[in-house]
Amino acid sequence: MAELPAEHLRVDGDVVPAGGPGASLLEALRAAGIHAAKQACGRGECGACTVLVGDRAVMSCTMPAATVADEVTTAAGLGDDAADLRAAFADHAAFQCGFCTPGQVVRAAAVLRASVDRTRDEIVRAMSGNVCRCTGYKQIVDAVCAVAESRRAAR
Ligand code: FES
Ligand code: FES
Repeated sequence: MAELPAEHLRVDGDVVPAGGPGASLLEALRAAGIHAAKQACGRGECGACTVLVGDRAVMSCTMPAATVADEVTTAAGLGDDAADLRAAFADHAAFQCGFCTPGQVVRAAAVLRASVDRTRDEIVRAMSGNVCRCTGYKQIVDAVCAVAESRRAAR
């Protein structure tokens, strides 16, 4: 794949500007009209802005856009890979207002890509940087555990 100039990002299969000097990855995404990553605390405390950079889940509000070289994937770009996760979130009522959900789904996608063999407690810890003010978390963890279980069964 051709090298991109540092002032561009590859996001969900498209090429977009990396924003102005000092722009965070979240600022660059939103300036490019990509709203799947949510703006909330703006200081790395809530996870609403979580995206994948390569296979790593990052809080895009604290990551300088200019440092991002790998493909960025938002919740909107996860595609069929995450169809079971999206279905599990719906089946387990793992959202209410939905504001945290794109970040939760991206985090869960990264957690499950890394391993489907984590215990429930390990999944709770792995998801713990993503805050939800509505659900009380149980439904979110239930959804992620259900996908881990079904992916284990399908191996
Ligand atoms: S908006 Fe990025 S962690 Fe809260
Ligand atoms: S569903 Fe409302 S913040 Fe999580």
